[in-house]
Amino acid sequence: MANDPMGGKTPTVLLTGVAGYIGSHTALAFLDAGWHVIGVDDLSTGSRSAVPEGVEFIEEDCRSAALRNRLAGRKIDAAVHFAALIRVDQSVSQPVEYYEANFCMLGHFLKSAQVLGIPAIVFSSTAAVYGDQGDAAISETAPTLPSSPYGRSKLAAEWMLSDFCKASGMRHVTLRYFNVAGGDGEGRAGPRADATHLIKVVSEAATGQRDLVRINGDDYDTPDGTCVRDYIHVSDLADVHVAAVKHLVNGGKSVTLNCGYGHGFSVREVIERALALSDRPFPVELGERRPGDTVFVVADNAKLLRTLDWRPQHDDLDGILRSAIEWEHVLIARRAAEQGAAPSGTKARKQPLRT
Ligand SMILES: NC(=O)c1ccc[n+]([C@@H]2O[C@H](COP(=O)([O-])OP(=O)(O)OC[C@H]3O[C@@H](n4cnc5c(N)ncnc54)[C@H](O)[C@@H]3O)[C@@H](O)[C@H]2O)c1
Repeated sequence: MANDPMGGKTPTVLLTGVAGYIGSHTALAFLDAGWHVIGVDDLSTGSRSAVPEGVEFIEEDCRSAALRNRLAGRKIDAAVHFAALIRVDQSVSQPVEYYEANFCMLGHFLKSAQVLGIPAIVFSSTAAVYGDQGDAAISETAPTLPSSPYGRSKLAAEWMLSDFCKASGMRHVTLRYFNVAGGDGEGRAGPRADATHLIKVVSEAATGQRDLVRINGDDYDTPDGTCVRDYIHVSDLADVHVAAVKHLVNGGKSVTLNCGYGHGFSVREVIERALALSDRPFPVELGERRPGDTVFVVADNAKLLRTLDWRPQHDDLDGILRSAIEWEHVLIARRAAEQGAAPSGTKARKQPLRT
């Protein structure tokens, strides 16, 4: 292959946090694209069952020297670092744990990657580094004003990564994810069972696992008074990682990119679509504003589209919701199987989802 920097060999990518939500979907995307995937996870919050078949799985703390030893001598073309703690609310009461997991852990992993001769890394960052920015789409040049220890630990990690790459010659793509949602279209992976974001909540309500959905404030300065978010389908985001790694492997420069679709939906719009798609109407309650909620978080994704060979395939709120609801049915069926019973009539889906 004339333009193949791998010289025709199967390329290898190392994923940390492979047993988590985005790591497991990204492993599927790399496997589907013909890569060999080495996946590391200490299973501290992830689940072994989330690791896709075909991944060379190593159960290990990605900070440990043991990982370095186990991978010594292997040729790894790039790494993607997902492993982290991810709950904004938890980061407020446990800031040190969040700096350890999101900042210090990256430092340890970068040193291992350097010893292993890995030339390129993709890093999972977040729109939480921006904080509240008003009602315009947010570009990568917007000021970084994180409002939580989670966001600050990720921003500090971004700075360390950038400094490390300048000093070492390693190259990086830092991806700032907006709201990640949905599940694999073939039912092979989906959001974590304990996730708490809106799409997960409405999917649980739509499948009878939750009694009601609460709107946290409807007096914001938005068209319908509820907060607006840019929801990106997790399978599209997984493909962004494949494109980012290819960018680096092909000699592309270090870069920071927003990952979103460039338009948002309000809380009320998401709930209305979930109700329309569900065969189980659920009650919706109006609650107070939650302290710290940002009002309008939508990505300007022009740089992403300009830089990577990637185009969205799932930019469709109904499709995101359908895949999330389908995943709830997978979870319900799994739980029932574990308990040795068929899914209960009240919880299981009786009719196809409305289209
Ligand atoms: N989920 C989102 O909406 C979202 C949004 C923005 C950014 N992110 C970022 O994306 C990344 C992945 O998020 P996710 O939703 O898949 O999280 P997740 O919690 O589902 O997955 C994280 C995985 O990392 C593993 N892990 C934690 N510490 C480890 C360690 N020391 N060694 C090895 N493995 C370890 C956990 O066991 C887990 O499987 C995180 O860095 C997160 O900050 C996620």
